[in-house]
Amino acid sequence: MIKVYDAIIIGAGIAGLNAAALFPKDKKVLVICKENSWDCNTFYAQGGVAVPYDRDDIDVHIKDTMAAGAGLCDREAVEILCRDGRASIDDFINRGFLFDSDEERNLHYTKEAGHSRARILHAGGDATGRHMHHFLMKENSHLLLYNSVVTDLLIDNDICHGVRVHHKGIFRNYYAKTTIIASGGLGSIYKYHTNARTISGEMQGLALEKGCLLQDMEMMQFHPTVFIHNKGARKQLLTEALRGEGAWIIDDNKKRFLFEYDDRGAMSPRNIVSRSIFDWRKKTGLNTYLDLHNFDKDFFKKRFPTIYFNLKDLGFNLPEDNVPISPAFHYAMGGIKTDLNGKVPGFKNLYAIGEVASTRVHGANRLASNSLLEGFVFSKRAVCDIEKNSFNFKIKQFIEDEEVLIKEDDKELKNRLRELMWENAGIVREYNNLKKTLIEIDKMLKSDVGKLLRLRLKTSKSIVQSAINRRESLGAHYIIKEGDK
Ligand code: SIN
Repeated sequence: MIKVYDAIIIGAGIAGLNAAALFPKDKKVLVICKENSWDCNTFYAQGGVAVPYDRDDIDVHIKDTMAAGAGLCDREAVEILCRDGRASIDDFINRGFLFDSDEERNLHYTKEAGHSRARILHAGGDATGRHMHHFLMKENSHLLLYNSVVTDLLIDNDICHGVRVHHKGIFRNYYAKTTIIASGGLGSIYKYHTNARTISGEMQGLALEKGCLLQDMEMMQFHPTVFIHNKGARKQLLTEALRGEGAWIIDDNKKRFLFEYDDRGAMSPRNIVSRSIFDWRKKTGLNTYLDLHNFDKDFFKKRFPTIYFNLKDLGFNLPEDNVPISPAFHYAMGGIKTDLNGKVPGFKNLYAIGEVASTRVHGANRLASNSLLEGFVFSKRAVCDIEKNSFNFKIKQFIEDEEVLIKEDDKELKNRLRELMWENAGIVREYNNLKKTLIEIDKMLKSDVGKLLRLRLKTSKSIVQSAINRRESLGAHYIIKEGDK
């Protein structure tokens, strides 16, 4: 007799763990993590979680989200996010989670770019994601499989029977009535990124191979304020809340150059800030910095402890020192196309939630701190849908195929891919460079690569192809014609 889970969840970020928490306790749920549970983008989220401040703010939050999304948002998805968002957060607080508040237990809301009011809740100062993740992990009562790479979705006749996993050199199939992909984005495809090291877009590539649609893959978001000189793949994020609470962006001459691009200066939506920094550096050859002189030292240390101590380790004395900044890849708006319950069209029992999914809730440019909220809201919708609409089918056993996951030259090719994606499918794109990148990716795909790199290449190809197809700039996708250089 094979063991059949009620649900398999791929990924232990906010979407995955919250889904696990919402399944009734008697359900058999398996959560699968590629390495450690904290190797997810939730863990590193700093700024916080956006939520309508009160009932009157719901419509304003909808308007801000739609405006940032530059016309590509699905209005219904945004309405769901903002209307259900408050209840999801209140529910999380009732489950015992503590957001930062004052002595009278009034929640502290901060402001980030693109938001027309302070509506971002945070925890541990700038350690919101880490606190949430810790809470969700403590709450989790289901089985967690660590160091386990999902190498296949077991799909037959549009029904997903589970997943194949590689764990400590062994391939094994796990079967389930429902499979939920909550594996996060794709930061490792880019040279500079803020994502957990293991987040590399393989599940998007796998979904594509299995016949799922990827949507809006050209919509990749670059965070404007990242310290990129630290060692290691994940670069040091400097939360947008810093600017919301008084930080400036300046150049070598102490000029607040962003006002030359937009009246909102450093509080413009992040696609505008990233692009302006990129352009200013190119045009003037000057360096760009985050200037924190408006902060009192004790306040800064308490409010932004992660940044204070991480940067201290890198030799900075904050808030006195200016920090060199660059934009870096941060978030994928595009992903596996789903309906508003996270269900993958064309499959009977396959779901995708969180950053890996595309409901069009973020449109062409995600409003800051809307993604943790998305994780809460859409994980709940997916679990409700599964509980209401589960259907019976006979589990089919699949052969435990052994596949070569990594080959000798993969590392070199991966690095080349990161460079190519950063240079040509990054903040500013050119049609001809995108075309050349597509040819090079195709060449890599034809070479002798391991399965994991193949999946990463397929995801990258989808980004590049979508960027080529969208000839006009929109939101995070900025494309210039050769003559405009
Ligand atoms: C930040 O803290 O600036 C990141 C918030 C987000 O990406 O939503």
